[in-house]
Amino acid sequence: MGLQLGDTAPDFVAHTTVGEIRFHEWAGDDWVVLFSHPRDFTPVCTTELGYVARLKPEFVRRGVRAIGLSVDALDAHHRWADDIRETQGIAPNFPIIADPDRRVADTYGMIHPRHDELFTVRTVFVIDPRKKVRLTLTYPQTAGRNFDEILRVIDSLQLTDAHSVSTPANWHSGEDVIIVPSVSDADARARFPQGWTAARPYLRLTPDPRTARPEFDLDTSG
Ligand code: BEZ
Repeated sequence: MGLQLGDTAPDFVAHTTVGEIRFHEWAGDDWVVLFSHPRDFTPVCTTELGYVARLKPEFVRRGVRAIGLSVDALDAHHRWADDIRETQGIAPNFPIIADPDRRVADTYGMIHPRHDELFTVRTVFVIDPRKKVRLTLTYPQTAGRNFDEILRVIDSLQLTDAHSVSTPANWHSGEDVIIVPSVSDADARARFPQGWTAARPYLRLTPDPRTARPEFDLDTSG
């Protein structure tokens, strides 16, 4: 059985384009997006790594570090970075793990032998600061990933860790959220001073709680 949500992300030591790293130590108190790509010098991967590099400010804003992995060797990663810079307009600005002996790939279940016996598929692991796996995604080798979606889920995870809410289909940061059913209406009145609309007793939508006005605004008695 592969890694599941809530599992501790396995620690490892690996050679990367920024030197040897101990994964947990490198992650520190940040969130991590660990993603595998099948091979260096391949077209879909080239576009993906350029796109992730371009998203760096969005990762930083959320306290997230990106780290890629392929089973190719370190010198190939370095040579390929030039191609990525020339074709995508930006070079990778995050570490890429060289995993030729497939130690990390096997630990994380990144090789799906009935899809490809030798090379990793496109996996994504979102890992929180407690090193727990919070999201896993697996894409086929032929489909480039939607990294905006990964940021969207991180926004949801970070919001729902801090407030008793969940986020509806296709939600984006700042849009209305769902008050979780375990919060009673009485509790919700205190926690969600902006109120809510209830389509059903279990389906209560409220504005993003981060936009709630400060407490001194809540006194409506006067
Ligand atoms: C690619 O990155 O284009 C790719 C890599 C492996 C298999 C298929 C496509």
